[in-house]
Amino acid sequence: MSIFRKKPLSHISNIEATHEAMHKVLSVRDLTFFGIAAIIGAGSFSSIGSACFSGGPGVVFLFIICAVACGFTAMCYAEFASRVPASGSAYTYAYVSFGEMFAWIIGWALLMEYSIGNIYVAFSWSGYFTNLLEGFHVHIPAWLTINYSEASKSFAENVEGEGMQAWLTAPQIGGLRIIFDLPAVFINIIVTWLVYVGTKESRNVSNAMVLVKLAIIVLVIIVGVFYIDIDNWSPFMPNGFGGVMGGVAAVFFAYIGFDAVSTLAEESKNPQRDLPRGMIYSLVICTVVFVILALVLTGMVSYSELNVSDPLAEVFSKKGVKWMLFVVSIAAVVAMTSVILVFQMGQPRIWMSMSRDGLLPRKFASIHPKYKTPGFSTIMTGLVVGIPIFFTDPKFVLDFTSIGTLFAFVLVCGGVLTLPVREKEQGKFHLPYVNAKFIFPVIILITFILIFSLNPDYISSLFSISSDNAAKNIPMLVFLLLCVVMAVLSFLRNLSLIPVLGLISCCYLLTGMEASNWIWFSVWLLIGLVVYFAYGYRKSKLNV
Ligand code: ALA
Repeated sequence: MSIFRKKPLSHISNIEATHEAMHKVLSVRDLTFFGIAAIIGAGSFSSIGSACFSGGPGVVFLFIICAVACGFTAMCYAEFASRVPASGSAYTYAYVSFGEMFAWIIGWALLMEYSIGNIYVAFSWSGYFTNLLEGFHVHIPAWLTINYSEASKSFAENVEGEGMQAWLTAPQIGGLRIIFDLPAVFINIIVTWLVYVGTKESRNVSNAMVLVKLAIIVLVIIVGVFYIDIDNWSPFMPNGFGGVMGGVAAVFFAYIGFDAVSTLAEESKNPQRDLPRGMIYSLVICTVVFVILALVLTGMVSYSELNVSDPLAEVFSKKGVKWMLFVVSIAAVVAMTSVILVFQMGQPRIWMSMSRDGLLPRKFASIHPKYKTPGFSTIMTGLVVGIPIFFTDPKFVLDFTSIGTLFAFVLVCGGVLTLPVREKEQGKFHLPYVNAKFIFPVIILITFILIFSLNPDYISSLFSISSDNAAKNIPMLVFLLLCVVMAVLSFLRNLSLIPVLGLISCCYLLTGMEASNWIWFSVWLLIGLVVYFAYGYRKSKLNV
């Protein structure tokens, strides 16, 4: 009855014998495309703006840091995917490495990545979609294009603009203003339907959308390059490194998605070989795109003009390139549709795995007899994404998604460190083993020496905790302590370097999260634990 009971690997290889099979249609190219479909979306078209505003052109450093963290994590995901070829992604991986309660926590955190993340993307989708319609002279009233919380805030703070207009013009029922984001609700319904009717259909739509969005992003970069004024790149970090790190939730959000590939294990033709490749290929392609895009954006206009929800449209509008506004809006709508599609496919598959293990009611694992998709879970996902659209706001869901996903990544990297060594097998991905024994402690030592020599007072300043800086200093102190602990463990246990670096780099990104995010996240985890003890702990299949 231990909460740390682990799922034996043999259960996983049995899955296909004991459960209804899904259609195995996805190749390595499809999986790479799925990765890109999930990665390039609202982060590249919306949240990149606030990150550039906070960090200036130096935000490219943050893109590189996030790419490194995600790269190491992708290798860890790949190692797991090659050992545990079952739907459920990090949730299933945690079940075999850390045990049931951690698996549940990861499943709970992944809900933030897939479903809550999709709420942000749906809001951003709506912004660009409304722009596009305006281009065709189709006007949707303001009270149907914004969320209630933003509109009421604009009114309370007396900010002119769409929010205020929505508040003043909205119809009322019994004193309650009818304000909601209709296009966001609409796209959620369409995608839920598409995912419900089939993996193959979703794949075809997704592949087509990836081609369109990559082509248009390349066009944006090519046209944008001609409008770069290199004076905009100086100063490179106008708000220092603190400003660069201020964009961490936004930049990290842009990378989320490569891991969604791992939820498609049971629909892949050769998951042990193709899932790892799909993840790594898509991550590399997207990193290159992001770094160039950030340089182009901050080169075209001053970083201070980029704090808008549609920065790619904004830069071309500022330069008077009207035709590009239209092209960018199309690309944004297509790109974000594909993100929503992939995430909306990922979430039901995680629930399906949790339900097969008894941690969720059996209905969540039911496969539609005709479409062979997890029908009930798909509809539930549609509701979990759709309902909050009526009462949350984009900033909140963005931060919430990033912290939850980073948390899951940390556990995946940590999980790889607990796996037993295995024999090499032809055609399967193997995480290269580099002994961290000396390398990691030396990296930490050099970093500490550099910090001391560049800023001798830095470490002591972290210990003077006041109410103003506690939210920044405490996470940083915990992080530095973790570095020391991992250095000692690497030395004593000959840990594998790649997961150690993945764990440390994701934890570093977590130090950039705001205090309020930590509070919300802790509340979320607490609720998750209550649900686990009330249901999953008693109903688990391992409970025999
Ligand atoms: N990376 C995905 C996006 O930017 C979540 O939309």
